[in-house]
Amino acid sequence: MGADRELHVLSALLLLLVQPLVVFSSTPPLACDPTNPSTPYYAFCKTTLPIDKRVSDLVSRLTLEEKIPQLGDVAPAIPRLGVPSYKWWSEALHGLSLWGRGIHFNGTIRSATSFPQVILTAASFNPRLWYRIGQAIGMEARAIYNMGQAEGLTFWSPNVNIFRDPRWGRGQETPGEDPMTASKYAVYFVRGLQGDSFRGGSSGQLKASACCKHYTAYDMDNWKGNSRYTFDARVTAQDMEDTYQPPFRSCIKQGRATCVMCSYNRVNGVPTCADYNLLSKTARGLWGFNGYIASDCDAVALIYGADGYAKSAEDAVADVLKAGMDLNCGDYVQKYAGSAVKEGKLSESEINRALHNLFSLRMRLGLFNGSPKQQASGTIFANQICSKEHQDLALEAAQDGIVLLKNTANLLPLARSNVTSLGVIGPNANVVYKLLGNYGGPPCKGITPLGALQTYVGSTRYVAGCDSAACTSSSINDAVQLAKSVDYVIMFMGLDQDQEREDLDRVDLVLPGMQQTLISNVAGAAKRPIILVLLSGGPVDITFAKLDGRIGGILWAGYPGEAGGLAIARIIFGEHNPGGRLPVTWYPQEFTGVPMIDMRMRADPASGYPGRTYRFYTGKPVYRFGYGLSYTTYSYEFEAESVTSIYLNDSLPLQATANSDISSHNRASIVSDACGKLKLSAAVSVKNHGPMAGKHPVLLFSRWPSLQHGRPVKQLIGFKSVHLEAGKSTKVVFSLWPCQQLSRAMGDGTRVLDRGSHFLVVGEKEHEINIVF
Ligand SMILES: *[C@@H]1O[C@H](CO)[C@@H](O)[C@H](O)[C@H]1NC(C)=O
Ligand SMILES: *[C@@H]1O[C@H](CO)[C@@H](O)[C@H](O)[C@H]1NC(C)=O
Ligand SMILES: *[C@@H]1O[C@H](CO)[C@@H](O)[C@H](O)[C@H]1NC(C)=O
Repeated sequence: MGADRELHVLSALLLLLVQPLVVFSSTPPLACDPTNPSTPYYAFCKTTLPIDKRVSDLVSRLTLEEKIPQLGDVAPAIPRLGVPSYKWWSEALHGLSLWGRGIHFNGTIRSATSFPQVILTAASFNPRLWYRIGQAIGMEARAIYNMGQAEGLTFWSPNVNIFRDPRWGRGQETPGEDPMTASKYAVYFVRGLQGDSFRGGSSGQLKASACCKHYTAYDMDNWKGNSRYTFDARVTAQDMEDTYQPPFRSCIKQGRATCVMCSYNRVNGVPTCADYNLLSKTARGLWGFNGYIASDCDAVALIYGADGYAKSAEDAVADVLKAGMDLNCGDYVQKYAGSAVKEGKLSESEINRALHNLFSLRMRLGLFNGSPKQQASGTIFANQICSKEHQDLALEAAQDGIVLLKNTANLLPLARSNVTSLGVIGPNANVVYKLLGNYGGPPCKGITPLGALQTYVGSTRYVAGCDSAACTSSSINDAVQLAKSVDYVIMFMGLDQDQEREDLDRVDLVLPGMQQTLISNVAGAAKRPIILVLLSGGPVDITFAKLDGRIGGILWAGYPGEAGGLAIARIIFGEHNPGGRLPVTWYPQEFTGVPMIDMRMRADPASGYPGRTYRFYTGKPVYRFGYGLSYTTYSYEFEAESVTSIYLNDSLPLQATANSDISSHNRASIVSDACGKLKLSAAVSVKNHGPMAGKHPVLLFSRWPSLQHGRPVKQLIGFKSVHLEAGKSTKVVFSLWPCQQLSRAMGDGTRVLDRGSHFLVVGEKEHEINIVF
């Protein structure tokens, strides 16, 4: 999707924020309308038949000329069969979005709940929260559909690519850099959105359809002349197995997502949408994917055009359909599939296969069951949208994600009674849509950080300080004068969508323009240490602020969504104890010396390549993955009941593999079922030493005694968010499947379990487990 469309969407968003409400309502489009006299004769309308049979019946009734137009994201109606048009492309990354074509905010419904951008939600490390957000979005999707303001229920969310490089403009959309976190996020968001239970139980009918994107190894948009449209990601088998593929595997296997989107880039020379091995063999075959595979927008056109992989448009279309892609975002397949069939490059059976997947999905959504008003999902109405429950959830998500990075001498929280005057400085402190991040929708209501703080301190004054986040011109003097005249100063600095977004990666990690100068000048003029709030998706090198004693408190608030202003104010004034932990490594500026196009995760000391993410980065981060303070302190102890030895010799047939990077005697191949079922538990007691109650995510890592052969420094293997009153402790039990969580990928991508010591790590505490075979 190009930049033009983004600008268009942004202006639409601005318009919606100021437009008065116009009341309008219509009914949703429906197939198999009971008032249509032909309906009883069509087997595809008989809800008593299995969907497979119904789809076969429908497809068998179509001519080739009717079939081909169904392969694009705008699928036309087939009037003679009473099949309405359908728009496949909608977005719902962190709430119903203005992006895409399927949802319209021009009727009775003018807004939807705008949750925090995903990177902030991820910082809560709380699967239950992720599930509830997915669930709320699924509800709002059905409601807007039932109100007649949607032409589809298929959402191209979540984005579960690994946030591999801190400069990536779309890193904000993702759950961060850790494969396990991204995997869990995928599973729970998808279960919520599609209407399954938290544990994965199926509800029967799909509430809405989620899509795992962008499959795969896509995490570079537009950096120093390298474009996502032509980028060939060179990925090792080892990195593929333990970094790039896990979120997709989980999204499909445990999340049972009903869509996968193939990406723009190539992987090791092959465009992903034309890769039979990725789409059909791996996703459908190995992982049991049941749904439709969509291309990213215009990705098929690129295979012949700019990319030059295929020799003609017809070849490109034949390549993707044969590889297993079903739907083209765009109209390229609609344009060229006919000539591809005529030229003998494509058989009609490939088209039928794609149609089968597409119509099955529409039926699984209940869109061929007559009036939705007669189905359970038909009773979900407008009062679900922007309900109090959903708006409270948006606040909870923002509060639980925000990360306290610095709090010298317990400057925070501020006591309301102590603050007689407050100075707020920063270009983004007073703009609602800057809180949303990309793929936003029109929020239910918007309160800016400035607006929220004003409700706490009557005497609050504001100076923007910079023209925008770019901060090419600043009003330092005004800001300094304000700082001198108030009790406390809170600065809102960081990034916005002009610095990091789709199709725009950063080239720097420091704050843009004159921001640092402004901050330092204000800090120098203020009566007390100041508070710095960073709004950004990607990490920023703020070493200067970390080290500057005149900056007493630092909060990272991501793009916190419609309730973000309030969440920030509540944390600053101690009504909420921050517990978020960074889902990405914050690298120093020198990391920009690393080519963004280098996909290798592992460090290469010989060439000075430092490696990526907390698992492999050999440099010193500004803030590490998992970092986050709170207004209380927590301590951990491993409980005696934690397992210390695992005997594999009885339980699994060991397989020695020939391609060894250490003696095969010391590792076991973990392909067997017995190994997969092996389970153990580790228990950790967690204590809140006070003085406040708080939610605290406990992160459990594992590490090996040796880093040889590409073993990670450490690896997140479990996390749980606990709520603890001041002075209280609790026991957290982690269930572990050693063949999955304690295993590692070898150079050739196979997984093995090492004999001997493994260490479980929580905070500073370690617990040794000995694997015996
Ligand atoms: C809302 O927008 C859609 C898509 O542009 C359009 O088809 C529909 O007629 C519009 N409805 C109203 C009430 O303007
Ligand atoms: C209020 O400010 C005074 C002076 O700076 C400080 O000593 C006191 O601890 C503050 N009170 C609270 C509740 O923070
Ligand atoms: C497995 O190893 C344990 C400890 O070395 C030993 O006691 C046990 O007999 C072994 N079992 C088998 C089947 O070899």
